[in-house]
Amino acid sequence: MKRVDDFRLRLGGKELVPLVIGGMGVDISTADLALEAARLGGVGHISDAMINTVTDRRFDTKFVKDKLKQYKFNVANSNKSVVRFDLGQLAEATQLHVGSAMERKRGDGLILVNCMEKLTMNAPRETLRVRLEAALDAGIDGITLAAGLHLGSFALIENHPRFRDAQLGIIVSSLRALQLFLKKSFRTGRLPDYIVIEGPLAGGHLGFGLDWAKYDLATIVAEIRQYLLTEKLDIPLIPAGGIFTGSDAAGFLENGAAAVQVATRFTVTGECGLPDPVKQKYFQADEDGIEVNMISPTGYPMRMLSNSPAIGAGIRPNCEAYGYLLDANGNCSYITSYNRQVEAHPDARRVSVMGKTCLCTQMRNFDVWTCGHYAYRLKDTSRKLEDGTYRLLTAEHVFKDYQFSTDGKIVLPE
Ligand SMILES: Cc1cc2nc3c(=O)[nH]c(=O)nc-3n(C[C@H](O)[C@H](O)[C@H](O)COP(=O)(O)O)c2cc1C
Repeated sequence: MKRVDDFRLRLGGKELVPLVIGGMGVDISTADLALEAARLGGVGHISDAMINTVTDRRFDTKFVKDKLKQYKFNVANSNKSVVRFDLGQLAEATQLHVGSAMERKRGDGLILVNCMEKLTMNAPRETLRVRLEAALDAGIDGITLAAGLHLGSFALIENHPRFRDAQLGIIVSSLRALQLFLKKSFRTGRLPDYIVIEGPLAGGHLGFGLDWAKYDLATIVAEIRQYLLTEKLDIPLIPAGGIFTGSDAAGFLENGAAAVQVATRFTVTGECGLPDPVKQKYFQADEDGIEVNMISPTGYPMRMLSNSPAIGAGIRPNCEAYGYLLDANGNCSYITSYNRQVEAHPDARRVSVMGKTCLCTQMRNFDVWTCGHYAYRLKDTSRKLEDGTYRLLTAEHVFKDYQFSTDGKIVLPE
């Protein structure tokens, strides 16, 4: 039986271990995690989600404080249209985060940045352009366009000097989404260098409706593969979502995938950005304690542990400090849901908002415990200690387990 290490991903002039650690927003896939993937000859992702906030925490900058100070007058106002990001600061934050990761990179692998279109930041085009250009300026190996159709994203950066040499990929969940992207991007004379096909069992936001269970990753991969063959397009395909063992991964590689993208198994590693007590929640997850719900204001379903503190939390919107999900008109569906509850309970000191969550604040505080469908199997990937907690893994251990294991086995740490 074949194993992942029997295959290689050819990307950016390199021969890589065909294992990609997916982007996990708001610094869950930290630079440390991505650096390990690159050191071990694979591909790691950092994420530029809530970049100003992340940079403040990591590099002691004061971007969030500055923004809050500037817009404090608007905190009680439900109209957030005045709350704008300073594009210079956005570029600076991105360059700090990306530049520092690239400086620290060792080994033959690649570091990519996950860039979500749904972070519309009250000025979708302008902020996205700055994020993409600043990442390229800071020397990122490549960019994975995520959480959105990205129909205009290639055009936004087509004049950047690195537009043709950086690795640029797109995440899709259907052939239709891919076709739209290719059609719109065709004008720039550039194809994506890789396509991540994210199925319904992934963590984070899903590119499906609440009927996600009707879909199957292998079927979507086969459809897209057939389409590319027919169109004579040779683009590496990278399936993602629910690939839990090295054998699962090898199965996709044997069927023509160029690599696989995985994430959930790395949430319980020391390098992952989640706080340690949250990592234990992931270990303890049971199958019936994982849900797909609609609380994200993006409108996409999201999978998470049902005991995530964000569910039902009714905090005041924090857009003056954060505001990453404000649309082009300064709206976010959480603000609407929150205001409705406040109006219905005028005397309550606290309200509960069930329909939506203040995703910025909750992700910032690591209170949305998003995970892949198989998070309930994480407890089978480590050892339970005498005090009832599970031993954290190293990213190297999990990476190598994917790379070398066979027969559906998962190697436990010593
Ligand atoms: C905690 C967590 C956070 C995630 N955040 C993002 C994100 O910010 N952007 C994105 O495109 N995908 C995100 N994902 C999806 C992963 O990058 C990956 O494609 C998917 O989870 C792979 O499936 P697996 O977790 O079953 O291995 C996230 C996944 C997890 C588990």
